[in-house]
Amino acid sequence: MKGIILAGGAGTRLHPLTKVTSKQLLPVYNKPMIYYPLQTLLNAGIKDILIIIAPERSGDFLNLLGSGKEFGANFVYEVQEKPEGIAQALMIGKDFINGEKCALILGDNIYTDDFSEEIKAHNEGALIFVKNVPDPERFGVVEMDENGKVLSIEEKPENPKSNWAQTGLYVYDEAACDMAAMLNPSDRGEYEITDLHRLYLEKGLLKAQSVAGPWFDAGTFESLFEASSFIRSQSQS
Ligand code: TTP
Repeated sequence: MKGIILAGGAGTRLHPLTKVTSKQLLPVYNKPMIYYPLQTLLNAGIKDILIIIAPERSGDFLNLLGSGKEFGANFVYEVQEKPEGIAQALMIGKDFINGEKCALILGDNIYTDDFSEEIKAHNEGALIFVKNVPDPERFGVVEMDENGKVLSIEEKPENPKSNWAQTGLYVYDEAACDMAAMLNPSDRGEYEITDLHRLYLEKGLLKAQSVAGPWFDAGTFESLFEASSFIRSQSQS
């Protein structure tokens, strides 16, 4: 299983903090933000990891993370010229993935759960991780039946069909890059990860698993502060 950390993007909601650095390099208590999603992949035994970064910040990521040796892993870097959507990670990463299974995680998503069992057991289709949230309209919203079977998935709907938000960790079978190549940009000009998941859903190959522990999408001042404060409380207990 290959791993991808998507750590580009503009980070405009965190201006001016992100005017001269990347969001994913900002501190979350005592570590740079990207260390947390990296650890989520490492915990699942993933050692070959592609880190996708914005062109302006590439040197900083390389200085921080290097070859991966320090982490017992092997890092490869690719530049995303423009932030044209999360699903673009599977286009940029096609050669790296090389027809294998892969796990994609967003560089600003922080979990405490250990997903290694689910990731290692993943065999067919796409697996997404969902969290019950009070403000689902900000996310991709997943509607499920009582057995957890996915019925629909919609990006930032005005009238959400559930409170289940799609979070930033996705596990794919060998077909992911070919499926991503079929996507067209959305009205906001992005290759939407939700559109890729809808393609998997139409084939009956989309599974959802709930996140038991806390989850932070550290892209706003509030969530960045909450993530730091949570990690601090954990490290002191
Ligand atoms: P977002 O938080 O949706 O976007 P952003 O980081 O550009 O922030 P803002 O909305 O404040 O401008 O992105 C979620 C994560 O995915 C984040 O880690 C950045 C990453 N990302 C990319 O690397 N490339 C992209 O094209 C997109 C859309 C996101």
